[in-house]
Amino acid sequence: MKEIIHEMYSEEQIADMVSRIAEQINRDYEGKQIHLICILKGSIFFCADLAKKLTVPVSLDFMAASSYGDEIKSSGQLMITKDLDGDIDDLHCLIVEDIIDSGNTLTKIRELLAARNPASLKICTLLDKPDRREIDVAVDYTGFVVPDCFIVGYGLDYAQKYRNLPYLGEIEFIEE
Ligand code: IMP
Ligand code: MG
Repeated sequence: MKEIIHEMYSEEQIADMVSRIAEQINRDYEGKQIHLICILKGSIFFCADLAKKLTVPVSLDFMAASSYGDEIKSSGQLMITKDLDGDIDDLHCLIVEDIIDSGNTLTKIRELLAARNPASLKICTLLDKPDRREIDVAVDYTGFVVPDCFIVGYGLDYAQKYRNLPYLGEIEFIEE
């Protein structure tokens, strides 16, 4: 199978979008400190670029969760493969995710973090694929709303490849 990537959003378009979201966040969090929670690995570049555009004080932590096929749905469990290093009670937490697809992952992460008594808890996602939603997730900041296709680049992978692409693209599979 040959894989072809069709660019959807250029580096420049992504940078503009990140600036737009950062401005919104800077306004909304004026006078507060934000605790950014980067969901690995997909949101590393987005979270790093966003953090650099924030003018309010920022602290950072990382979490990794994994799902194997339909396991999340069938067992109702989310596997946390790396938990946060620190406590979040009384912190203004902003979860930074790569893409919301069915909504299962983020729903579970939000429940888990909400139980730790943060001062506030919001969600920022690079991409939103609403056509595939199974559980409603209230998203506070969205980069791009995308159609139902498989997207790679700028942190997002297909079989762990393509995360390093500076742009976002749709992957097409061609039989050889
Ligand atoms: P959800 O639990 O179905 O919302 O799945 C979200 C996770 O699925 C994301 O964090 C990604 O890891 C993965 N995912 C969903 N759609 C895509 C895509 O188009 N490209 C790359 N990863 C995706
Ligand atoms: Mg992911």
